[in-house]
Amino acid sequence: MALFSTIAVLGGSGHQGRGLAQRLTIAGERVIVGSRDPERARTAIAGWPAHARAEAAANRDAVARADLTILAVPFPGVAALLAETADQFTRDALVIDVTVPVTFVGGKMTMIAVAEGSAAQHVRAHLPSHVRVAGTFKTIPAHLLDDLERPLDCDEFVCGDSEAARVQTSALVQLLPGLRAVDVGALSRAESVEHLTALAIAINRRHKIHDARFRVVGLPSGY
Ligand SMILES: NC(=O)c1ccc[n+]([C@@H]2O[C@H](COP(=O)([O-])OP(=O)(O)OC[C@H]3O[C@@H](n4cnc5c(N)ncnc54)[C@H](OP(=O)(O)O)[C@@H]3O)[C@@H](O)[C@H]2O)c1
Repeated sequence: MALFSTIAVLGGSGHQGRGLAQRLTIAGERVIVGSRDPERARTAIAGWPAHARAEAAANRDAVARADLTILAVPFPGVAALLAETADQFTRDALVIDVTVPVTFVGGKMTMIAVAEGSAAQHVRAHLPSHVRVAGTFKTIPAHLLDDLERPLDCDEFVCGDSEAARVQTSALVQLLPGLRAVDVGALSRAESVEHLTALAIAINRRHKIHDARFRVVGLPSGY
């Protein structure tokens, strides 16, 4: 049985969103790819394997139909996107923030200073209070998600503004083969997680690899 009735993946035509959208569809979830231009999303989806194909819709329509919305757009566009869609979120909807506040100027990676402390807290600040917010899928590289046959073989950190948000988000993470959810607590922990993404990018560059990601040791067996 599906965990959510409908999942909207905003930015689901892009690098990080498309792997998530396809993997969640394969896992049995009903997924709508939200886009600024539904035709662009439709074209992207047409190239996906038949068993991974989601629906396409404009961002506002996708949010209105979803009980879970995943934000997979570049961080600088988040505030405007949420201003455009905020009135469409259903009561008790969950938002999962995937964004990381980094920019690449002239090939140099820089963390963007976020007034609220982290991208996830920035998202929280731009949503109505009836919407719950969690952060995850921030440290898994897009090209691994995109390789649908490959188990992901790592941990994903989950933070959230309530226990319920973290529990639901952890269950979603564990739908994806090879991912273990590690609950790290309050949404403010996202700041540390987002810095870990920057660290993974730096490790990739330094060691000329593409797959750096994280595994926590020391957790109880069966966690
Ligand atoms: N790439 C990774 O390995 C990775 C890993 C962890 C986290 N992330 C995070 O995931 C998010 C998406 O990254 P990405 O690499 O997938 O980015 P991307 O491919 O550049 O963009 C994703 C999608 O976002 C939409 N978009 C672009 N600019 C937008 C704007 N100003 N307003 C609203 N929507 C916009 C576009 O979809 P439409 O044109 O269809 O609207 C685009 O296809 C980022 O915040 C990134 O930090 C990425």
